[in-house]
Parts: sequence; C-alpha cells; structure tokens
Amino acid sequence: MDHIKAIAFDLYGTLFDVHSVVARCDQQFPGRGREISTLWRQKQLEYTWLRSLMNRYVTFEEATEDALRFTCRHLRLDLGDEACRTLCDAYLRLQPFPEVPGTLRELRRRGLKLAVLSNGSPHSIGAVVGNSGLRAEFDHLLSVDPVRVYKPDDRAYLLAEQAFGLARTSILFVSSNAWDATGARYFGFPTCWINRSGNVFEEMGQTPDWQLQGLDGLLALFDGGAGASTQR
Ligand code: 2OP
Repeated sequence: MDHIKAIAFDLYGTLFDVHSVVARCDQQFPGRGREISTLWRQKQLEYTWLRSLMNRYVTFEEATEDALRFTCRHLRLDLGDEACRTLCDAYLRLQPFPEVPGTLRELRRRGLKLAVLSNGSPHSIGAVVGNSGLRAEFDHLLSVDPVRVYKPDDRAYLLAEQAFGLARTSILFVSSNAWDATGARYFGFPTCWINRSGNVFEEMGQTPDWQLQGLDGLLALFDGGAGASTQR
C-alpha cells in the first residue's frame, strides 16, 4: 500500500448510516420506519442515476425530497410538508458508523490525505460532516455539484484526482456501495469495498481490489496485516 497517498471516501452508507433516519420515520409513521428508509434510499439513488442519464441534474437534496415523496405515496402514507421537512432534515444529521471517527483520525495520523467524494450537495455534505464533528479529519469535502452529474460517471471521480493533485493510481477509493466501487474501479482508482452486511458484489465487469467488513479494516490493510480480507 506504499503507493497510496490519499483516500477518497463515499459518504452515504460508507461513513454515515443512511438508516439512522429510521427512528425519525418511526416517529412520523409508527412501525413503518425501516420500510420507508429502505425504499427512500433506493429511490434516492435511482433518481440520481436517472437524472444523470437524462441530463436533468437537480441537487441531491432535491432528489432526496422527491424520493421521499414517492416513497410515501407508494406506501399510501400521507406526508405533509412539515413531516417532509422534518424527515429531510434528518438526512443532514446522519450518524457515522461507530468505527469511523477513530479510523479517520488514525489514517490522518499516518500522514494520508483524506477526502469525501459524494453525490451530496456542498450543503448536505457540509451539514452531515459538520454535525458529526468530523470536519477536521478531511482535507477536502468534494461534491459532484460542480460537474452536475452523479457517480458513477467518470467526471465525478475525476474531482478527487484534481483536488488531491495526485495520479488516480495513488488514491484509494473506499465505498460500501458496490455500484460506486464498480464505477471507481472502471475510472482507475484502487478500490476498497466496505461490506458490513455480507452482501454480494455487483455483476458489472469489475471486482474490488479489497473487501473489508468495516472501515477499521483499512488500518490493517495499510499495516499489510491479516485483518484485511480481499475479494480476489
Ligand atoms: C454518496 O455519498 C450517494 O452514497 C452516495 O455519494
């Protein structure tokens, strides 16, 4: 791993748990929180991909709100404007996975440059990272907003190469989203897939260079130690 000088992290689902909105959803719609959160996330992703295909960019917050409105209509739940605001606000206050803060601090201590590279807007990335107290751990918070196209488009991944000023082969890309790890690998980043739930990887012509069960596995990976399980 000596050639790796910097790490770009996906945000939603990788550093922060998108399903930390379940409790808020349950408050609004008792007993339906998990169902709402699952469909909401799936639709949010679909809307970003579809908008990229149609060349009809809206910000991640708008796509997130549209996805929530669809989800509630689909589930026959009456989502008023105030509940919509409350739930979208919960998306700005997601919780980091437990091992994330300590791992980021340790990676920085080892001299690695760190960035977020996310489909979120500058506002949503800033809010999520800022609300968790982790802003100081990152050299860059990179949103796809300047290129108005979402990952897994190459133009989105290019933002990290430009921000770090490093060759893509010396930037490790880390994501728990298999579609994102696939795109990053096609782009040419060495790629680590964080697989916390024992999922199978996508069938889209790529495999990740490394597969870990949690972000803290990166420390063993950089030590060249045994904790890192690889996909190959
Ligand atoms: C991201 O943070 C949406 O998880 C995706 O870019």
